[in-house]
Amino acid sequence: MTEHESSLLLDHVDMRLVSVEADEAIADRNAIVQLDPDHPGFRDQEYRARRNQIAQIAMNYRPGDAIPDAPYTPEEHQVWRTIWKALQPAHQKHACVEYLKALKQLKFEPDRIPQLREVNEKVQAISGFRLEPVAGLVQPRVFLENLANGVFLCTQYIRHHSTPLYTPEPDVVHEIVGHGVTLASERLAELNRLFGEAVKRTASSESLERLSRIYWFTIEFGVLREAGRVKAYGTGLLSSAGELEEMHHAELRPLVLEDASCEQYDPTHFQPVLFCADSFAAMHQMVKEYLIRWS
Ligand SMILES: [Fe+2]
Repeated sequence: MTEHESSLLLDHVDMRLVSVEADEAIADRNAIVQLDPDHPGFRDQEYRARRNQIAQIAMNYRPGDAIPDAPYTPEEHQVWRTIWKALQPAHQKHACVEYLKALKQLKFEPDRIPQLREVNEKVQAISGFRLEPVAGLVQPRVFLENLANGVFLCTQYIRHHSTPLYTPEPDVVHEIVGHGVTLASERLAELNRLFGEAVKRTASSESLERLSRIYWFTIEFGVLREAGRVKAYGTGLLSSAGELEEMHHAELRPLVLEDASCEQYDPTHFQPVLFCADSFAAMHQMVKEYLIRWS
């Protein structure tokens, strides 16, 4: 495997447990974001300072306020340019129609990272969903329950500029290009809300895990057939050109939600198994009915 392939291999992920110390628990306000020694930005003091600054925006944020703009650097806008150049043709080739329609409405620019504030305004006008910045650490239950209230908790930092096609954590590219766009589809926004409502009715950790897996294999990594071809509607696929190419090598199983609820996954690799719906409408109806009946 070449170095390029191995970096694409890790470009996606949805590990929401980014390590951030709770506000009151830290003595040093300048070091709220902890990066692992193998993180691409670990030795970059400027990057780490900016990550702390961006985390601080989230910590000071009060729901309903306009989201303050993140201080992205020219190097970081270049990261966006690189990613966007790879993603645009990949979307045309591999994204489902519902996603492409929503993408058009958000009108991303190729030269700069969109600010959460701008994306939030557009998404809210379309589906009523609100994006809210989070510093990092979000437990799966907190993340999913917020969806019930039409709130999507979003990271705002971008990956380190030394690895434009790789991120060990979900960054603003995944959040905006993946979730932001899909939340600009009324039907996908509806499913996100229903996931949140189902989680609120779920007490046991086993059941929560089953629902999280269904979320993973639909909202994050879902594929479907459109005019005889396999297309993506999952955010983890749609935010990475590498994932979009690789999805055609996955083992495709018919979308049976009970099966998806039992399927283990590893967020650090390309997904070897994907669940494929017969169409967008079939997926939407199946997931919606399943979540409404969930108890
Ligand atoms: Fe995600």
